[in-house]
Amino acid sequence: MLKSVLVNDIMSCEKMVRETEDNEVKIAIGADHGGYELKEHIKKVIEDMGIEYEDLGTDSVESVDYTDYAIPVAEKVANGEVDRGILICGTGIGMSVSANKVDGIRAALVHDSYTAKLTRQHNDSNVLCLGGRTTGFLIAEEIARIWLGEEFEGGRHERRINKISQYEKVRKG
Ligand code: RB5
Repeated sequence: MLKSVLVNDIMSCEKMVRETEDNEVKIAIGADHGGYELKEHIKKVIEDMGIEYEDLGTDSVESVDYTDYAIPVAEKVANGEVDRGILICGTGIGMSVSANKVDGIRAALVHDSYTAKLTRQHNDSNVLCLGGRTTGFLIAEEIARIWLGEEFEGGRHERRINKISQYEKVRKG
């Protein structure tokens, strides 16, 4: 229990140091074959916003397993290598289910601009999941722009997300 608390604290410190050093937000993005085309579009949006990103694949529409992209992207966010992640599969569901298995990840599957805003303000979501087969490119672009630009409100919402972190710590023992 103490070990996992310390590891989490060290990871938070590393993230703070990195943010202070380069003062740049960095994104990791990943998709399976169902999300590949939308990923390529969202990469242009991220570039247009002047945000640095790392593309963890996939690189074509050839069939792959969403877990092989969800977990690496989520782990990069959880260990502080990047600030946030974007994951895209056919529906966004496989990506969100997988990413949320990683401690410290609050992945939100979003279909509209209102929830894109609210999941940043209230949940401090650190991974955005999109459906390449369920959400049109222009709506997805609007969602990504809002989600990337919105801040966490803190306050009572901080207390709630702290309860999630606390649960993760206790569960790990
Ligand atoms: C792949 O066919 C599809 O199952 C996947 O992209 C995703 O939608 C799963 O949740």
